[in-house]
Amino acid sequence: MSEITKSSLINSIKNVKHPELNVNLITLNSIKKFDQKDGELFLELSVTAKNPDDIKNAITDQIKSDFKEVKKVNLNIKARSSSHISTHKDPRKDAILPGVKNTIAVASGKGGVGKSTVAVNLAVALAQDGAMVGLIDADIYGPSVPLMLGANDKPKVYQAENSVKIIPLENYGIKFMSIGLLVDEKDPIIWRGPMASGAIKQFMTDVDWGELDYLLFDLPPGTGDIQLTLVQTIPLTGAVIVTTPQEVSLIDARKALKMFERVNVPVLGVVENMSYFIAPDTGKKYDIFGIGGGEKICKELNTNLLGGIPIDPRIRQGGDNGKPMVFAIPDAEETKILMDISRKLTEQVNIRNTGSDDKIEIDLGDNN
Ligand SMILES: Nc1ncnc2c1ncn2[C@@H]1O[C@H](COP(=O)(O)OP(=O)(O)OP(=O)(O)O)[C@@H](O)[C@H]1O
Ligand SMILES: [Mg+2]
Repeated sequence: MSEITKSSLINSIKNVKHPELNVNLITLNSIKKFDQKDGELFLELSVTAKNPDDIKNAITDQIKSDFKEVKKVNLNIKARSSSHISTHKDPRKDAILPGVKNTIAVASGKGGVGKSTVAVNLAVALAQDGAMVGLIDADIYGPSVPLMLGANDKPKVYQAENSVKIIPLENYGIKFMSIGLLVDEKDPIIWRGPMASGAIKQFMTDVDWGELDYLLFDLPPGTGDIQLTLVQTIPLTGAVIVTTPQEVSLIDARKALKMFERVNVPVLGVVENMSYFIAPDTGKKYDIFGIGGGEKICKELNTNLLGGIPIDPRIRQGGDNGKPMVFAIPDAEETKILMDISRKLTEQVNIRNTGSDDKIEIDLGDNN
């Protein structure tokens, strides 16, 4: 039979109409194994599903109808069940965000180190692995989430029992909310501290987040009012600190890390961004912002290095074009790094919540 490519297969699977299959989450990354021989297709897919058997039949039928040369599909579904992501229990959090299992702040001391880039890509990476994910753009003064997720629709509202609820937007399998969706970016708004803090609270109380495994917060730089409001409103599951390897960034990362410790928010780990640059023409590695900074701070402050992300123009373009790297270029090395960071983060959350690092992945076996 003629060769079937992975991307033609993905295009076929994206046509499956099934209430349990979120086709937005189906990317090249979902294909875990792929082989073809004498009209037989051997395929392993990683998807989110409650009833993998239903989806399996639907996908098999779709492939057979799109590729007439395929006589047999040996499909194995690896389901990542979100219910296996352990829950951070706390009465105060449960009162405000009852359906949200874990809340994680993405923070840094210094501005411009890549918090928003990391938060957006981590959120999409977690969703790719089957988690239900929300993202709050807590940068009221300089929101970047709408641009980075390619969104400019106004969120809809509805009248609930006692209050008006905002429906978050959804893209790339994640729900999100940002002040940038509510006010025109050309309108200069002079926020006073209490107003900005009020907006953050409202994003927690007035947005209909529904059931989520993770709600991520993309914080503004520093350790100011918004950070304080956040940690005072709900006890967070934890914080992720983003830094570059250079000393000025590390100094501020230390401050951020210590602030979270002081208010009893566990630091889940450090992400070193802009770790190095590989010249595309020569393959030579350049340590533009120095080397080993992330590792150093982790040793010093007894926390985990979740990973190091290189400088890559495609990461910047992904942000500017509203197509996050992990979604847009699933087979890139940087995507693998980001997926790996998201899995290490999940492990850390599970360790905090259960005291064990049992793998959350469950293999539903080869039941064709
Ligand atoms: N690894 C990377 N490779 C290339 N460009 C990157 C990378 N990480 C971030 N950038 C780019 O650097 C700029 C700053 O990133 P980003 O906005 O994510 O930082 P930030 O810490 O959220 O900034 P702020 O403190 O203003 O909120 C953006 O233009 C982004 O696209
Ligand atoms: Mg930002």
